Amino acid sequence: MTEYTIQAAYLAASILFILGLKSLTRPDSARRGMQQAAVGMLLAIVGTLLHHQIVRYDWIIGGLVVGTVIGVPLGFMVPMTAMPQRIAISHMFGALAATLVGVIEYREAAGAIDTARMGALGFEVLFGALTVTGSFMAFGKLQELVPGRPVTYPGQNAVNIALFVSTIGMLVYVVLHPLAAGVFYTMIGFAFLIGMFMVLPIGGADMPVVISLLNSYAGLASSATGFAIGNNVLIIAGALDGASGFVLSVLMSKAMNRSFGNVLFGAFGGAPAAAGTKTTEGLAVRPISADDAALQLAYAKLVIVVPGYGMAVAQAQHQVRELATLIEKHGGEVKYAIHPVAGRMPGHMNVLLAEADVPYDRLYDMDEINEEFERADVALVIGANDVVNPAARTDKGSPIYGMPILNVDKAHSIIVLKRSMNPGFAGIENELFYDPKTAMLFGDAKTSLTRLVAAVKNL
Ligand code: TAP
Repeated sequence: MTEYTIQAAYLAASILFILGLKSLTRPDSARRGMQQAAVGMLLAIVGTLLHHQIVRYDWIIGGLVVGTVIGVPLGFMVPMTAMPQRIAISHMFGALAATLVGVIEYREAAGAIDTARMGALGFEVLFGALTVTGSFMAFGKLQELVPGRPVTYPGQNAVNIALFVSTIGMLVYVVLHPLAAGVFYTMIGFAFLIGMFMVLPIGGADMPVVISLLNSYAGLASSATGFAIGNNVLIIAGALDGASGFVLSVLMSKAMNRSFGNVLFGAFGGAPAAAGTKTTEGLAVRPISADDAALQLAYAKLVIVVPGYGMAVAQAQHQVRELATLIEKHGGEVKYAIHPVAGRMPGHMNVLLAEADVPYDRLYDMDEINEEFERADVALVIGANDVVNPAARTDKGSPIYGMPILNVDKAHSIIVLKRSMNPGFAGIENELFYDPKTAMLFGDAKTSLTRLVAAVKNL
C-alpha cells in the first residue's frame, strides 16, 4: 500500500514538473509554473519520506530545517540581478548531493554491483563532481570572487581534452572492475578538476550559458542517481532538467549568434573594453532634459520601449508602465521590444514587465518588432546597450559582430536612459549614443522615469 502511495506521489510530482515547465514558457503563467513545480517537489519529498528503507528521521528533519533556513532568505533577499550566480550555487549543492549519494551507494555495495548499476553510478559521480566545481567557478566569476575574464594558457584545450579522455577511461575501467575503488575515487578527483578547468577559459559574459549547461549536467547526474537507486521521480525530473538546460543553452548561444563550441572554447566575453575597429573619438552626444523628452513622448504616435539590464538594476519596471499609460492617454501607442538576451538571464525583461502588469500582448520578440522601428516616432531605450549596438551589424572587428540586435537606429528619434557613457556587458562602445537622432537622458533609470512621468502629467 505504502509503495502505491509513494509511486502515486511520484507520478503526480512528475506531471506537475511537466505542467510547470509548460507554464514557464509564458510570462503571464510563469508564476503558476513555479508554484506547480514547488508543489511537485513537495510531493516528491513526501513520497520519499514514506520509503520503507528510511529507518530514522532525525538527520532528515535536521536537513530539512537547515535547507529551509538557508532557502527561504535566499529566495527573498537575493535581487533579480544576482539570480544567475544564485542559480549557480544551487546547482553546486544539487550536484554535490548527487555525488555524495553516488559515493555512499558505491561504498555500501562494496563491489557487489552489476555493470548497468555501476555505469549509472559512475556517470552520476562524474557529472555530479564536474558540476560542483564548474558551478562554483561560475558563481565565483559572476560574484567577481575570481577574475571574470577568460583565463587562458597555451595548450589549454589539449590539457582539458586529455583530462576528459583519461576520466572517461577511468569510468569505463570501474564499470568493468567495480572493486577498483582507487580508480573510482581518482575519477571523482579528475572530474572536480575538469569542472574547474572547463569554466576557467570562459568569460563572465558567457556565464549564463555555462550555468544553463551545468544545469543540464546536474540533471543528467540526478537522472543517473535515479537509475542507480531505483527512484522514478529522480529519473524523470533529472531528464527534464537535463534536456531543458541543454535546449536553453543552445537557444542563448543562438541569440548571441555564437556557436556552442565557440562559447565553450572561444574564450569570449571577458576582456572589458574589447573595442571594435570603429571608434567614437571626436563624436559628441546630445543630452536632453526630462521636460523635453516628455514633450516628445507625449505627442508620439508610436513609442517602442527597449528595456535592458539597466532597467533591472534600477527596478524601474513600474515607472515604465506608468509612463506608458500616460502616453496612451495622450493617444500614442506603446510597444515593448524584447531582445532574447537583454538583461542577464533568459526572460529577464518579460518577468520584470509582467511583475509591473504590462499587458503580455504589448511585448514583442525581436523578429516580430524589428520592422516596426522604421515607423516608430520614438525608441525609448531604458538601460539597454549591447542589444541595440549597431556595431553588431556593421563592425566586423567588434566582439559582438553578427549578434542579432534590435533595430533601434531605424526609429525617427531615440531617447536613451542610462547613467553615464559606460559600456554594457560586452565592454564595448556604442555608436548609437552618438547618432544625431539620439538624445541621452542621463541618470538612474527609475529617477529619470519618475521625472518623465511627472513632466508628462504636467503637460
Ligand atoms: P548591457 O549591454 O549590459 O547594458 C546595460 C546598460 O545599463 C549599461 O550600459 C549601463 O550604463 C546601464 N545601467 C546600469 N544600471 C543602470 C541604472 N540604474 N539606470 C540606468 N541605466 C543603467 O545590457 P543589455 O543591452 O540588456 O545586454 C545584455 C548583455 O548581457 C548582452 O551583452 C548579452 O549578450 C549579455 N548576456 C545576456 C544573457 C541573457 S540570457 N540575458 C546571457 C549571457 C550574456 P550606465 O552604467 O552608464 O548606467
